[in-house]
Amino acid sequence: AWANVPAGPPDPILGVTEKFKADQSPKKINLGVGAYRDGKGKPYVLPSVLKAEEILYKKMLDKEYLPITGLSDFTKAAAKLAYGENSKPLDENRLAITQSISGTGALRIGTAFLARFYPGAKAIYLPTPTWGNHIPIAKDSGLEVKQYKVKRYFDKETVGLDFEGMKADIKAAPEGSIILLHACAHNPTGIDPTEEQWKELSVLMKEKKHFSFFDMASPRFCAYQGFASGDIVKDAFAVRYFVEQGHQILLCQSFAKNLGLYGERVGAISFVCADKEEKARVDSQLKIIIRPLYSNPPIHGARLVHTILDTPELYKEWLVEVKGMADRIISMREKLYNKLVELKTPGEWGHIKSQIGMFSFTGLKPEQVDKLAEKSSIYLTRDGRISMAALNESNVEYFAESVSKAVKG
Ligand code: LMR
Repeated sequence: AWANVPAGPPDPILGVTEKFKADQSPKKINLGVGAYRDGKGKPYVLPSVLKAEEILYKKMLDKEYLPITGLSDFTKAAAKLAYGENSKPLDENRLAITQSISGTGALRIGTAFLARFYPGAKAIYLPTPTWGNHIPIAKDSGLEVKQYKVKRYFDKETVGLDFEGMKADIKAAPEGSIILLHACAHNPTGIDPTEEQWKELSVLMKEKKHFSFFDMASPRFCAYQGFASGDIVKDAFAVRYFVEQGHQILLCQSFAKNLGLYGERVGAISFVCADKEEKARVDSQLKIIIRPLYSNPPIHGARLVHTILDTPELYKEWLVEVKGMADRIISMREKLYNKLVELKTPGEWGHIKSQIGMFSFTGLKPEQVDKLAEKSSIYLTRDGRISMAALNESNVEYFAESVSKAVKG
């Protein structure tokens, strides 16, 4: 029956894990997928999550279907986390929000909604580079994919954001275009606009009447971003600022990385609407999009997130745990940088320290990436992105030595 089915290529990110699993070397490292690992290279279940599990277990809750748009206690807490306690759209009851199957599901619902209802919507502008899955998600929803630059190429001058290029491309897009923005910790580059640059972007987006589609799936994992003080305002700066400025944004959230709930698939998508009545109409169409896709979302992860966000002691504990993850990643950035320099690895490596979040965009070329897999059993995506969280005291030196060799040729 399937003689006409051509073999497809492996997924650029998850395919890396498949190759890693097939490798028998004891030295192998998987720097592909963005999943936090502890200092011993093991998956990390946050202690706050374990406590929430215990609370839920004791409640002996039933496992009935959730409504189409998910657990409302969870979506309320998710909205509060992103938009802030006193956000106008929340106070004025004009935020349409639904639970989603993590970030991917949120993006899929969002792009499907836009393809169906955004006036004249045929295209979405994605940053170059962007998270690999953005492209097929948008295409499968029926949108054409266009690009704007966030980064040009690697050299000493351009290790940061190509802000001028980004603005020029956004300006050149036809009025009223849909522009996808990574809210923080841009995946894969780990480079974000500064707060001042976000303000400029807000003005530009308004001038051009563009629609802001925010993807907030990656946390910064940055100790100095205020996680220590229990304040996630820095991560949410762009989103909150745009909302304050009157942009009717769309926001995709994921709790995979910041709560370590990868496999629970818990996320949310929200639409800032003009008023209550518009919100009700958007809500009704979200249900019509979701019902034929998967009926209603899974319940357990949403309960976990709600329990942590709405239990003050657990919330505090969670923030400390995030700081722990952040600190470990930052110390690996330091170690990797120092070792590469010590080994006199040709090139400029300062960006490893300046980039934020879970990923580092190394500048390694596809052939060097292939060589790392072949010679050293080290696996990463061919765009040269590495998940910093997969490095630890036991493998960072081996990784640096292998990179050094690959670069020296
Ligand atoms: C990543 O970028 O590695 C993660 O967001 C996981 C994924 O699904 O690609």
